[in-house]
Amino acid sequence: MDYKTALVTGANRGIGFELCRQLAQRGFRVVGTARTQASADSAREALNLSGCEVLFVVLDTSDASSIKKAFLELDKAGISVDILINNAGVFLDNGKTVVDTDVSVFEETLQVNTLGPLMMARAVLPGMMRRRWGRIVNVSSGMGQFESLDGWAAAYRLSKTALNALTIMLADAGSAYGIQVNAVCPGWVQTAMGGASAPRTVEKGAETILWLALQGDDGPNGKMFRDMTEIPF
Ligand SMILES: NC(=O)c1ccc[n+]([C@@H]2O[C@H](COP(=O)([O-])OP(=O)(O)OC[C@H]3O[C@@H](n4cnc5c(N)ncnc54)[C@H](OP(=O)(O)O)[C@@H]3O)[C@@H](O)[C@H]2O)c1
Repeated sequence: MDYKTALVTGANRGIGFELCRQLAQRGFRVVGTARTQASADSAREALNLSGCEVLFVVLDTSDASSIKKAFLELDKAGISVDILINNAGVFLDNGKTVVDTDVSVFEETLQVNTLGPLMMARAVLPGMMRRRWGRIVNVSSGMGQFESLDGWAAAYRLSKTALNALTIMLADAGSAYGIQVNAVCPGWVQTAMGGASAPRTVEKGAETILWLALQGDDGPNGKMFRDMTEIPF
């Protein structure tokens, strides 16, 4: 594969940080995003200490003006994104149900987990279409699969079910331009979101996301995966 630029949202910790580390180690130019300059700086320094050079931009995926500002900064630096990993996410309704979760929690969750990836995809797709190459990986969750839906953590589930649907729509939009858009369930991973009892390391959580980001031209499009195996939406 040629020299490519990968952008990972929510890269200051968790799975996103690990994705940046592994992408940089594989020789990609990597752009990570963080919500504050301070978290961007500390993540960049930690990655540098492990020998990985990663550029950081400050970006809030729930804020259209923040996304616009970050892409203007990248444009000015002559950086175009070939691989977008929509990783940033929130899980605000752990322990709540569809009956007792405040509507504002649904709104915030959908904004970050669903509309954020939509806005990020729309920021990179025109360039990918011009260059006729692109990879978008949406970090979703098995909790959004139709077959596992129930009333617990409804805002999070709904945001990921909608992200899965968005994956199919974006895949359709990009298919004539050499662009692949797929969704991933990373499994239950040891991060701030997953908690300490999660069985998976961040390395394992990043595995299938990277595998999709690095697919050749005959790779899948508009599908969902866990452990490098297709699973139903
Ligand atoms: N861990 C699991 O078991 C698990 C399972 C299934 C799916 N996932 C998915 O995997 C992805 C990564 O999760 P993780 O476990 O690594 O979570 P994490 O450790 O909690 O990290 C979440 C990342 O998203 C960022 N973020 C949150 N809201 C944002 C916003 N509005 N704009 C930009 N960035 C924002 C956070 O930034 P701040 O530091 O500023 O908050 C942080 O960098 C998520 O999409 C999650 O739903 C995780």
